[in-house]
Amino acid sequence: MRVEFILLYLLCVTATVVAYETVEDAAVIARNLVDNSKDSIATMATIFPSDDEELGDQPFSMQEYYASCHQNGSITLLFLPISRHSRNIYRSKEHRASISITSEIPAASRARVSLIGTVTVFDQGERAQDLEILKNCYLAKHPDARWWLPDDDDAAHIAYWARFDPHTVYFVGGFGDTHYIGYIPLGLYQSSGPQPSLSPVAGRILVTQGGL
Ligand SMILES: *[C@@H]1O[C@H](CO)[C@@H](O)[C@H](O)[C@H]1NC(C)=O
Repeated sequence: MRVEFILLYLLCVTATVVAYETVEDAAVIARNLVDNSKDSIATMATIFPSDDEELGDQPFSMQEYYASCHQNGSITLLFLPISRHSRNIYRSKEHRASISITSEIPAASRARVSLIGTVTVFDQGERAQDLEILKNCYLAKHPDARWWLPDDDDAAHIAYWARFDPHTVYFVGGFGDTHYIGYIPLGLYQSSGPQPSLSPVAGRILVTQGGL
């Protein structure tokens, strides 16, 4: 009798736990979306500069290649000054942008994450450290980008490496009755990625936090 009671109790507790995502679960799912996205293409949003003749202060969103090459979930970008996003980012005082990544098969019931933050562009002599690691990590996701890499005199366009650092993470796990919807604390997002030693995914090298 007692044992049955305990079993029933455990069943209820487990049922509640699996039915509702905690913010910790959400952080792991968010990092999985960012780190293991099949195509490594995000939707980026930026804002047109105020003095733009037609579209001042308007939001603008469009797909963008990215690669998750940092242990803390910051994102590696190839920054082409010619692109609309890059021009908006350059004109924004703090180089603001938002990047969102969704599940492989996007749906209202599936997880997606929006990162809000700033872009550091490694231009004008500023160099990203561990450049070879970042380059290999990025090219593993986007082999076609080899035609527009920085420091290539034959490249079609000028390009710079850049790093997007989120300051805010907003997560929608799916429908709110069973999934977490809301902000994920930055520290939790940053520490919820795969451990480098446990993730020998071919072609993907995670730069450790202390590494750069
Ligand atoms: C994330 O880690 C990289 C090094 O891999 C570091 O340069 C960057 O500042 C970190 N970002 C944040 C927001 O802590």
